[in-house]
Amino acid sequence: MKKNLLIISGAFAAVLVIASCVNSVPAVKETAIVSKDSLIKRGSYLVTIMGCNDCHTPMKMGPKGPERDMDRMLSGHPDYIPISKFDTTTTKNWVLFGMSGTAIVGPWGTSFAGNLTSDATGIGNWTEEQFKKALKQGKFKGLDGNRTILPPMPWENYVNIKDEDITAIFTFLKSTNPVKNIVPAPISPDKLTAYTR
Ligand code: HEC
Repeated sequence: MKKNLLIISGAFAAVLVIASCVNSVPAVKETAIVSKDSLIKRGSYLVTIMGCNDCHTPMKMGPKGPERDMDRMLSGHPDYIPISKFDTTTTKNWVLFGMSGTAIVGPWGTSFAGNLTSDATGIGNWTEEQFKKALKQGKFKGLDGNRTILPPMPWENYVNIKDEDITAIFTFLKSTNPVKNIVPAPISPDKLTAYTR
């Protein structure tokens, strides 16, 4: 009986050893071939959940009130929408979004959300390296020596973004409908004061 038990436990131990050997065989590495389609899909997903449309896609008036103008998706502040004059004595200490949601007034002056579409007036001619520098280091147009991107672009939130996410977002943006739109240059705060005179 004792001998039998020994044989059984011996066999069990052998099975365990074999099992652990099987487990330790390294898994066949999957080659990371990511198709362009899946990159675009992931980029679109990231852009949606990261709220890029909130500032970069202009609003238009729809049947139920203001809605995103998806024909102009991510094209930034439309060049045909003028900035109305306003009294900076009342707006002082406030941050205000224009009706389009793409022009924003604050202590830094007025900033206009950039054109992120695949058009040449957007990011059509940008390299991925430029895009990375804009998003992670807040460099305007992603070029060294350029000014820092103004608020409320939340680039500080993106400093830890992974390279593969940058690639996905950039691939998606390059696949967007090109919208020709030259976004106006920001207006400095002292210029805004001048508007009220
Ligand atoms: C809260 C509003 C807001 C959100 C959200 C936002 N942006 Fe911006 N973004 C802006 C504004 C405003 C500017 C222009 C600032 C300036 O002129 O310095 C800008 C500028 C940029 C620029 C630089 C454009 C250029 O020509 O140099 C890039 C690139 C950019 N945004 C990408 C994104 C992406 C990608 C997302 C989402 C992950 C995003 N932004 C989310 C407001 C926003």
